[in-house]
Amino acid sequence: MNEQEAKIAEAIKNPKNLGEMSDADAVGTVGSADCGDMLRMWIKFREENGRKIIDRATFQSFGCQTAIAVASVATEMLKGKTAAEASTMSGEELSAPLGPLPPVKIHCAQLVEGALRNALGGAPAEPPKTNTSKTLIDQLSAGTQPAKTKVVLERKGR
Ligand code: FES
Repeated sequence: MNEQEAKIAEAIKNPKNLGEMSDADAVGTVGSADCGDMLRMWIKFREENGRKIIDRATFQSFGCQTAIAVASVATEMLKGKTAAEASTMSGEELSAPLGPLPPVKIHCAQLVEGALRNALGGAPAEPPKTNTSKTLIDQLSAGTQPAKTKVVLERKGR
């Protein structure tokens, strides 16, 4: 196992910020047309010294291990950033703590970037629904995800 594989394995074993956030200010969902994986990110802001910064970010993923590892490190890095700062971060920057990803895994980081951008560009999260037992896949399949959450299909190089 090389150093990057070890970092990804550690992030998978102990993912940070995994799970839905019931009081989120923003939520974004993205699906990859390349592999069919999906990722949703929730963001909560707070005021600090007159600036609105990200207090915490969480995620739920139906993706590969790399996407989960990137989301884990990315949600840690987002803390303390303004929406403007966070919205300029690329998949490469969001996955930087894991080291450069191999070409076949670059879209995994772009999945995280897409969910982040969708959250920051989208409307505030809807209040949690009374039936919160559905998984992300169930919600997407049934079309019951929060009305203002968009699903973005990423198509690259086509
Ligand atoms: Fe699709 Fe990693 S293989 S997100």
